[in-house]
Amino acid sequence: MLDLLVHNATLPDGRTGMSIAVQNGQITEVTPGLNAPAQETLDAGGQLVTPPFVDAHFHMDATLSYGLPRVNQSGTLLEGIALWGELKPLLTQEALVERALIYCDWAVAKGLLAIRTHVDVCDPRLLAVDALLEVKQRVAPYLDMQLVAFPQDGILRAPGALENLKRALDKGVDVVGGIPHFERTYEQGTASVKLLCELAAERGLLVDMHCDESDDPLSRHIETLTAETQRLGLQGRVTGSHVTSMHSMDNYCVSKLLPLMAEAQMQVVANPLINITLQGRHDTYPKRRGMTRVPELLAAGVNVAFGHDCVMDPWYSLGSGDMLEVAHMGLHVAQMTSQAAMRQCFDAVTVNAAKVMQLNGYGLEKGCNADFVLLQARNPVEALRLRATRLKVFRRGKLVAQTPASVATLNLPGRPAQTGWTV
Ligand code: FE2
Repeated sequence: MLDLLVHNATLPDGRTGMSIAVQNGQITEVTPGLNAPAQETLDAGGQLVTPPFVDAHFHMDATLSYGLPRVNQSGTLLEGIALWGELKPLLTQEALVERALIYCDWAVAKGLLAIRTHVDVCDPRLLAVDALLEVKQRVAPYLDMQLVAFPQDGILRAPGALENLKRALDKGVDVVGGIPHFERTYEQGTASVKLLCELAAERGLLVDMHCDESDDPLSRHIETLTAETQRLGLQGRVTGSHVTSMHSMDNYCVSKLLPLMAEAQMQVVANPLINITLQGRHDTYPKRRGMTRVPELLAAGVNVAFGHDCVMDPWYSLGSGDMLEVAHMGLHVAQMTSQAAMRQCFDAVTVNAAKVMQLNGYGLEKGCNADFVLLQARNPVEALRLRATRLKVFRRGKLVAQTPASVATLNLPGRPAQTGWTV
């Protein structure tokens, strides 16, 4: 007997009337109209069942700290970094753990079941590293967390950062991070990329660098990151996060770069909510959007995911762990408004992000983990349009969160009362 049988589901690829059979936390079959005995059945009512949302770029050590110790007045990236520097000495492990656990609760409620979070390793106490390693362990039954050792103040610029980063990796941090555009000079940025890629190659780790988070068209560390990926045989294992300078680069330069990135199987994470608010701050008008060239990267064969990056922290005062909000902003900023492009934006917060994290057992296929979300929407585009309610969230076949359907009742003068939700 099956543990769970979901009936009448629509899948993200458009298949309708689908059944999903679950046993021992795994999907044993995905097929139309299956009839089999099950302990529990769920009628999806023709609505969308999707693999869980995945956030490939987040900062869980800073989340929910908005206003501590003060608010970012200019709203710029650099004031945010300065503010984070003011907050760091005041952090306690207990408070970090508490805020991160609250955020993970929000995430699960929104069907977000995997998060790659950067963790600042420039504090020699490695307080945030210890806190997030503890959180990773505590949330493991319901959420996959992957940690990136992120030298926020620059691996060469900040004294002791390299040793701290190595200690963080020794403690069990999964991925090597970096921030070449924040080093003191362009040359040191280049040197940092080489140094960190070599470290990752030695240790057999993935790489995910904040790369060229700037409007400076001459910030081209992504070239070096791509070349190092190729030189060290790290193809498919390296992610460039943000890469906003590509928005402002010369078109000729980008036309050379895209095939090189595809050749090295680079992955890119754009962070639409943050890029549209932090980039272009030094412009008057016209004001650049700043997000990297998402449709062009996808067309070149580069895997692109969208990340949330920040929720209520020194850089961004909004956000709620809703990856549909992230994708909704992404499609607007990139003008990806065709039906096909909107579906690509849905992929950017699901399958593409799972590929960045190299998640095992992700997907709605036989043999995958029974992790999925029932949405109050009939297809991915409607899910984006409505930032649809997550009716039910399953992890390994068990219901871990549910939210009542969004229903409005109208009592309008001269008309009969009506109840519905698709408005
Ligand atoms: Fe970031």
